[in-house]
Amino acid sequence: MNGLADKVQRGVRLEVRGLRKSFDEHEVLKGIDFAVGPGEIFVIMGPSGSGKSVLLKHLIGLEAPDGGQILINGEAMQPGDMASKYRMAMVFQSGALLNSLTVGENVGLYLSEHRLKSADEIARIVAGKLADVGLKDVGDKSPSDLSGGMKKRVAIARALVVEPQLILYDEPTSELDPLSAVVVGEQIVQLKERTHVTSLVVSHDRDLAFGIADRMAVIHEGNIVAAGAPDEIKKSADPLIQKFLQADFKRAE
Ligand SMILES: Nc1ncnc2c1ncn2[C@@H]1O[C@H](COP(=O)(O)OP(=O)(O)O)[C@@H](O)[C@H]1O
Ligand SMILES: [Mg+2]
Repeated sequence: MNGLADKVQRGVRLEVRGLRKSFDEHEVLKGIDFAVGPGEIFVIMGPSGSGKSVLLKHLIGLEAPDGGQILINGEAMQPGDMASKYRMAMVFQSGALLNSLTVGENVGLYLSEHRLKSADEIARIVAGKLADVGLKDVGDKSPSDLSGGMKKRVAIARALVVEPQLILYDEPTSELDPLSAVVVGEQIVQLKERTHVTSLVVSHDRDLAFGIADRMAVIHEGNIVAAGAPDEIKKSADPLIQKFLQADFKRAE
């Protein structure tokens, strides 16, 4: 599908029900439930080690659950099924760009490796996706020449090459200075507004979460302890949530 119809219907509905995962004795996901509507930005916020990356790995088929279900548009997916039935992409925390390739080659890698398009078409698509994230004229550079914020945006451009219906972001602002973090957050919002892609973001960055989320959830030790609109989360009386939201440096008086 192309054109306007695809744009309007692009984003899928994602639902996770009762997802459980242990590594040996360590129960990392203890029954995760949440749903993300088509075209929504849903942020799962929580501290390091709370199970955010493990959750995303289940969605892209890198881990198989011990229990629970992942549904797309109401249909239960087998592990790894999603990637073949739906167009989805993940922006990894590290960015995972190859320094042996140019920025443009990184962005077009999926298309060139799978011989999906001619070289001319790939060049055109790559230029378009880089422009989509506000980066022009960097296609011939090496990733190692770019700032951290630019690398993240290149990683997003690379994810866009598959015209995703679902895009997963793992800590998109980690290791970024505050201004670059704001630019990356704005990119995530602009992409959703332009393409109606469904976005799932996991992050420990409170500013990012409250800045971009349509709805959000808080994960703590493998459980979702609250979910709702950002305003509802802010007002939550749950001590765990308030502790996470208010954690800050205290100066001696
Ligand atoms: N493959 C694995 N084997 C064993 N333990 C793992 C594995 N992957 C993650 N874990 C553990 O699961 C917990 C959650 O990890 P993770 O999802 O990476 O946290 P985060 O919320 O920081 O992304 C951590 O305690 C981590 O050590
Ligand atoms: Mg992580």
